[in-house]
Amino acid sequence: MIIVVVSTKGGSGKSTMSQQLAATYFLEKEEPVKLVEIDDENLDSAYLTKSKILSERLPMGASSSANHVIERLMQMTDKNLVVDVGGNRTATNFIAAAGETDFFSMADFVIVPVSNPGQDEENALLTIKAIKQANPSTKIVLAVTRQMAQSQAEFEDVFTRYFRAEELLNVVEKVVFFPQVMAIVHSRALAVTLYEMALSKDSLLPSLSDQMVTAKKSGDTQAAIRYSRIRASVVQSQSVLPFIKACHDTFDLVVQS
Ligand SMILES: Nc1ncnc2c1ncn2[C@@H]1O[C@H](COP(=O)(O)OP(=O)(O)OP(=O)(O)O)[C@@H](O)[C@H]1O
Ligand SMILES: [Mg+2]
Repeated sequence: MIIVVVSTKGGSGKSTMSQQLAATYFLEKEEPVKLVEIDDENLDSAYLTKSKILSERLPMGASSSANHVIERLMQMTDKNLVVDVGGNRTATNFIAAAGETDFFSMADFVIVPVSNPGQDEENALLTIKAIKQANPSTKIVLAVTRQMAQSQAEFEDVFTRYFRAEELLNVVEKVVFFPQVMAIVHSRALAVTLYEMALSKDSLLPSLSDQMVTAKKSGDTQAAIRYSRIRASVVQSQSVLPFIKACHDTFDLVVQS
């Protein structure tokens, strides 16, 4: 399978959705996955050293055009690919090249993240229109991220109240919701995704407690506090798990549609 995560807006949550939702979709299926970041500068997923997710960076600089990047993607033989397309010009060039080469026919679906109403939303709509123009049958999932809500019903309320919900629902297959999660910071420290962090609670909690006690006994209070904070995030990650699984279930529906 191929999932593409794209938006022309920088900082809209593309890398977060690629790692925390799209790549973990395959982990939940117990399948291998490679995360490909189309980015000229950094590898956002470089921290995932203890994760089951493999990652690779494909630069799309002046020397390698967007069409070349698409050919590199086509050459990959991995069972599952998640393609995290960098923002701004990278996204615009990628969508144009995907249109020319019809790469979107090979993608099972495309995730377009949106964090805020307003400019972010405007960019999401423009991105969706550009993808639909490139290939009208592309399935698009809108991922509404960084929302402050405790349940699916609250998420839906936030979406209909503050976003241009009707307009967006008209152009996408499905909408998924992802909360604002402070524990993301500590998933980076643990070198895994939130999903993996939540699932390895039983081994992580005792080992973090041990490290905390050892640090405190050796007089390193700062380290002890840091371990206790990471531990708290592991506990908090449990409440994110149902949201992640609900998003994965929606992806199943989109794939089957
Ligand atoms: N649901 C969330 N909860 C907490 N922090 C988040 C969430 N989503 C994104 N962030 C944070 O917001 C910042 C921007 O997100 P992210 O890197 O995913 O965006 P991006 O679209 O990939 O950006 P770029 O265009 O630079 O590639 C990051 O610091 C990320 O950790
Ligand atoms: Mg990114």
